[in-house]
Amino acid sequence: MNPSHLCATTPVDAMLFVTPEYNCSIPGALKNAIDWASRPWGQNAFSRKPSAIIGTSPGSIGTAVGQQHLKSILSFCNSPQMNAIEAYIQFTPNLITDEGEISNDSTREFLRNYMAEFEGFIGRVYRAYPKPA
Ligand SMILES: Cc1cc2nc3c(=O)[nH]c(=O)nc-3n(C[C@H](O)[C@H](O)[C@H](O)COP(=O)(O)O)c2cc1C
Repeated sequence: MNPSHLCATTPVDAMLFVTPEYNCSIPGALKNAIDWASRPWGQNAFSRKPSAIIGTSPGSIGTAVGQQHLKSILSFCNSPQMNAIEAYIQFTPNLITDEGEISNDSTREFLRNYMAEFEGFIGRVYRAYPKPA
């Protein structure tokens, strides 16, 4: 599938990346999707679209290096990024139930706060860069 097709037909106001870390970078499939959605030149789907990153891995600080790579890619793609709060979620068995609920109270509260911060960030970006009419 050509991911640029998805971006061209499904407009979004912002992007939240939730990713594992592969060899201290992002998974190749995610990089491929970003690359397709950023082209052709002049039709970069990320330009001026706010973004944020949540990383999850079995290690407690896993995804830190991979997130830096993703930030670098998104910078080139001209996506305003939320720099704080950073989210490194240690993935443990049963952290997320089959129903999609987060079983750990502090992780649930952290992510709720993260989403509230991201909502505020998105609003600030669009006040600075109003969407084209
Ligand atoms: C090719 C590969 C490289 C990985 N590299 C890292 C890594 O650099 N840091 C890390 O914390 N976990 C790493 N992992 C473990 C992933 O974090 C873990 O497999 C992931 O959370 C599960 O997602 P998946 O089902 O998409 O593989 C790696 C896994 C794979 C398969």
